[in-house]
Formats: sequence, C-alpha cells, structure tokens
Amino acid sequence: MKKNSIIKMVDIAKVYDGGEFHTQALKDIDLDVESGDFLAITGRSGSGKSTLMHIIGLLDTPSSGKYILNGTDVSKLDEDEQALQRNKEIGFVFQQFNLLPKLSALDNVILPSIYAGTASKERTEKADMLLTMLGLADHINKRPNQMSGGQQQRVAIARALMNDPELILADEPTGNLDTASGDDVMKTLKQLNKEGKTIVLITHEHDIALQARKILHLEDGRLIEK
Ligand SMILES: Nc1ncnc2c1ncn2[C@@H]1O[C@H](COP(=O)(O)OP(=O)(O)OP(=O)(O)O)[C@@H](O)[C@H]1O
Ligand SMILES: [Mg+2]
Repeated sequence: MKKNSIIKMVDIAKVYDGGEFHTQALKDIDLDVESGDFLAITGRSGSGKSTLMHIIGLLDTPSSGKYILNGTDVSKLDEDEQALQRNKEIGFVFQQFNLLPKLSALDNVILPSIYAGTASKERTEKADMLLTMLGLADHINKRPNQMSGGQQQRVAIARALMNDPELILADEPTGNLDTASGDDVMKTLKQLNKEGKTIVLITHEHDIALQARKILHLEDGRLIEK
C-alpha cells in the first residue's frame, strides 16, 4: 500500500527577479516525499538547495507550480495560515543553529510552543524531556555560547521537535560541526526517522547524504535522481 505523501510538488519553479539580474533558481521540480521517508538533497553551491528548502518549509513561495503539504494546497493559504501550518507541521534545523543567545537551552526549546499556545507547565516539562532525550540534561540552563557546536545543534533539534511536527527540514545541519559532533547529529536524525518523523536533509557532503534512505541531486535548479 502506498503511504501518504507529506510533500507533493508538481512543476515548481522559482525565479529571482531583481531588475538587472534574473536567476532561475529552480525549474521543473517534481517531488514526492512519503510520510516516514528520509530524503537527502545534494548539489553544488548555487544549485538551488536552500531555495527548495525555503519553499518546502513555507518560508518562501514558488513562482509557479503546485505544492501540497500534508494534503493542503499551500497556494490557497494566506500568509497567516501558512505561518500556522509551518509552526504545526515543520521543525527546522539550520547550519548556524539559530538559537537566541540570551536564552538558556531550555528557553530556546520552549520558544516555538509559546507561539503555539501550549500551557506553561506542560511546555517546560516537554522541553526538559526533549533535552534529556537528546543527552543534554546537564546543559538545560546554559546559554548557547556556553555549549559546544554539537550541543547547540542538539538544542536546535529539540526546539524543532517541540510542536511535534511530522516533518523535519535540516539545511546543512552538520556544516558547522566537526566529524564526531556531525555523526551525533546524524544519529539523532536517524533515530527520529525510526520513530516515524519524515526528514528532508540538505547537504553538500556525500557521506552525510549516503546516510539517508534516498538521495536526490540538484543541478542548476533541476532535480535529478541518482
Ligand atoms: N534572494 C535572492 N535573490 C536573488 N537571487 C538569489 C536569492 N537567493 C538565492 N539566489 C540565487 O539562486 C540560486 C540558488 O541559490 P541557493 O541559495 O538556493 O543555492 P544553494 O544550493 O543553497 O547554495 P549553497 O550550497 O551555497 O548554500 C543562486 O544562483 C543564487 O545566487
Ligand atoms: Mg544553501
């Protein structure tokens, strides 16, 4: 039986048009990611990886084409509805961790659930549980600059899990990490995938991509199966 598609894209294109320059960042993108998949997208610098990730993550809109996220045609949603859908369905992990420097690990993890309106006690318990699950029980009160890069990235993963998203989007999550910390992050992503999360991982590192279940390659804005 075919599983549900969590991401379905048909003929997506993205053009950046800034007057004197005109970049076709994506073209003819057809993508079908099933619930529970672990997909890696690779490609050279400038091939369109982050652009595709931003469209998948409802951080940007395509110039044309159709995108259905978990059964919803996102082109029919207004900006507020898109933000709600993004907060509910997607957890983001970025290369630069994007943690708030003045907040503790715990408060960084709690943040997305404040926007989602979860009760305060429940939020704290959940953030604590996630940080403990990710091996950070001894670090919950530290600020980002008091932690290693690998620890910061695991805080970012805990934050991404806070609203129980079905989909995790990770753009070069190991890009700023040494090999050992990068391995830890990959282990964590693989474990989450085993537990049922759908993962889309963007990387230019071939050995990282090989750890996913499926690899697609972007070349000048087009997706190629390898
Ligand atoms: N906001 C923007 N305005 C204009 N052009 C852009 C913009 N963002 C990206 N581009 C262009 O679109 C193309 C794809 O960029 P993108 O950032 O998606 O590449 P990438 O594969 O993520 O590269 P990298 O590996 O360096 O992160 C590039 O040619 C880039 O210059
Ligand atoms: Mg990029």
